[in-house]
Amino acid sequence: MFVTALELTDFRNYAEAHLALTSGVTVFVGANGQGKTNLVEAIEYLSTASSHRVSSIVPLIRAGCESALVRARVRAGRDDDREILLELEIAQGRQNQARLNRAPLPRPRDLVGMLRTVVFSPVDLAIVRGDPADRRRWIDSLIVTRWPRMAGVKQDYDKVLKQRNALLKAMSGRCATKGAGDDEFSLGIWDEQLAGVGAELLHARLDTLADVRPFAQRAYERIAPVNNRIDARYVSGVDLDGVADAADVRAALQDRLLGQLRSLRAEELRRGVTLAGPHRDDVELMIGELPAKGYASHGESWSLALALRLGGFELVRDDGTEPVLVLDDVFAELDASRRERLADAIRGAEQVLITAAVGADVPEFPAERRFRVEAGSVALEEA
Ligand SMILES: Nc1ncnc2c1ncn2[C@@H]1O[C@H](COP(=O)(O)OP(=O)(O)OP(=O)(O)O)[C@@H](O)[C@H]1O
Ligand SMILES: [Mg+2]
Repeated sequence: MFVTALELTDFRNYAEAHLALTSGVTVFVGANGQGKTNLVEAIEYLSTASSHRVSSIVPLIRAGCESALVRARVRAGRDDDREILLELEIAQGRQNQARLNRAPLPRPRDLVGMLRTVVFSPVDLAIVRGDPADRRRWIDSLIVTRWPRMAGVKQDYDKVLKQRNALLKAMSGRCATKGAGDDEFSLGIWDEQLAGVGAELLHARLDTLADVRPFAQRAYERIAPVNNRIDARYVSGVDLDGVADAADVRAALQDRLLGQLRSLRAEELRRGVTLAGPHRDDVELMIGELPAKGYASHGESWSLALALRLGGFELVRDDGTEPVLVLDDVFAELDASRRERLADAIRGAEQVLITAAVGADVPEFPAERRFRVEAGSVALEEA
């Protein structure tokens, strides 16, 4: 699929922008702080109903304005001219309003998956160098790109976790006798819920990590000329030994998670938090024989983060969907050989949106289009 038109109203530093896009490679060039990332962020926001840059919506609305509107026309494919119109209205103090072909959708997250994107941006360095939470965000974003309904599962998990933690906290601060029976009963219910939704998330992560691994390995080999063996392994507080061979993997994961919660019960009641589940897991990344975190060089960490995103992109394509590939500020960080190698790797994509402060950093693609971005306005450069 690819975006054929993008319209912004009061989004970030754009008062009004109308952009006609095509399949193939599009490059947005402009000095720092002009609005290149804001443009691709708008596309990411429509695709996922979230931004990797902010958790609150306030910065998305142009300063001094009440609301922002992002609208995109998306075409199904080069050989498939069906189109949909996606809209998201972002307003302070109320839930975002999503529309599909001008018809309102009940929830913003109903928009998720209509437009599939894989975004690589400089903050992705955190996948390699950051905390387990950064790696969990990476694998979860890929899960949602593959299976949009997992966005709901993820939200449900977070909700259940929050409620269970609140109960544990209340119980940990209370003397054991008064109302203890009721609390125990409620906790038992939350255990079941957490294990149920948690197992679904865990299952999706395990499958996705196993599936993306060979694609990421290939992507890394393509980008990095030497020392180019990488690996990724899921690390869980729940014992996963042999679970992949179970007749019903999800049921087996649920049992294991439930067992783990029960064995941690006393400790959880003492500390007032949930100590097992996908929210505490990690993905261990290796380059050669060494862990990437704490060992890899800057260029290696960068290339690994990029390979994980590109691997995800190839996996989604392999699943049968052509996502839009967004590469924000990637080329400036790479040496000349890695730039050419990356350019080679993305040539076949249906739509690639690239941003760069310096145009010369981006190798020229056949039939590419370049836009100049300046102070919240975008203009096509004459070829
Ligand atoms: N809500 C907002 N209202 C007005 N301006 C905003 C808002 N949010 C961000 N900006 C402005 O947008 C600019 C940043 O845009 P963006 O991040 O797209 O830059 P960029 O072109 O990608 O730059 P770089 O090359 O440094 O990555 C900043 O000047 C910032 O002040
Ligand atoms: Mg930027």
